[in-house]
Amino acid sequence: EVYRASTYAPVNIAVIKYWGKRNTTLNLPTNSSLSVTLSQDDLRTHTTASCSSSFTDDTLSLNGSPQDIAGARTQACLRELRQLRKDVEAQDPQAPKLASMKLQIVSENNFPTAAGLASSAAGFAALVRAVADLYHLPASPTDLSRIARQGSGSACRSLMGGYVAWEKGKQDDGSDSLACEVAPANHWPEMRALVLVASAEKKDVSSTAGMQQTVATSTLFEHRAKEVVPKRMRAMEKAIHDRDFAAFATLTMKDSNNFHACNLDTDPPIFYMNDVSRSAVRMCEAINFSHDKLVCAYTFDAGPNAVIYYLDEHENEVAGTFKGLVGGVKGWEGKRGQAVKDGAK
Ligand code: DP6
Repeated sequence: EVYRASTYAPVNIAVIKYWGKRNTTLNLPTNSSLSVTLSQDDLRTHTTASCSSSFTDDTLSLNGSPQDIAGARTQACLRELRQLRKDVEAQDPQAPKLASMKLQIVSENNFPTAAGLASSAAGFAALVRAVADLYHLPASPTDLSRIARQGSGSACRSLMGGYVAWEKGKQDDGSDSLACEVAPANHWPEMRALVLVASAEKKDVSSTAGMQQTVATSTLFEHRAKEVVPKRMRAMEKAIHDRDFAAFATLTMKDSNNFHACNLDTDPPIFYMNDVSRSAVRMCEAINFSHDKLVCAYTFDAGPNAVIYYLDEHENEVAGTFKGLVGGVKGWEGKRGQAVKDGAK
């Protein structure tokens, strides 16, 4: 007999960035972060997890190619999930003994992997959710965020929809380093995200390596983690609760720029944004200037692709203008999304 469960997990894009770990094994961050979950129709991972006593090995595939399942991060997630299943089996002698069976995990992304489009976030969130469903675990999205975080830090924010905070926590074992909902998507459903793909190539410096180089060498980063982010987290939560787009936009752009400044302050310096990225910044500035108020905000992760946040009422001006750019500048490709109602399911 083969037991099976399937799930979709969405991509999330941080507006207050996670960058830097205080514990690299458990992926415990130096600062808290906050993200918006994007629509599953646009950017998502679909994962099917199966187990059977007839399987001989744990296996993992992504977009049809076999992947290394022995990696420490994947193993950490599977170990935690199997332990929770063992707890279920210990309480219910009738429950099938799934924890001891080998797992087959099959994932598909509908977007370029490792191009700075948060593929690891959706990937680990989907893996954890799919195995948790397969095991019928009585775990909440926040419980599962503790596990997904060990796969990839940003993945813990993809287990829920809407506006999500990852509180850095204080404990050494990471038990309080969890994601929680700041507001559901329907609190501010007018939010839109336009993903501008400047390059779908694999990035130069991985987030994992880049952030630890920043922690080791940047004094600007020390200031960011201690002084800048804690205040900004509270201000961003308030902007979201108040549905104050101008405040949301100011904080989002400032945080993206502060994060990229820390990369520049890293030794050797790290450049994720390129000329095409900078043209998106200027375009955003021009649109805001012509409206005499903030109607769009850019943010960049560890890659050159831009994500532009705006409200539905400005769809024509914002998406329309960027579509002009998409046509005009080689290498750009636009994709639109909106905040979703649910996280991984
Ligand atoms: C710039 O979550 O990919 O996207 O924990 O090492 O897997 P690991 O890093 P990862 O880093 C994401 C960094 C970021 C900002 C963010 O998503 O908050």
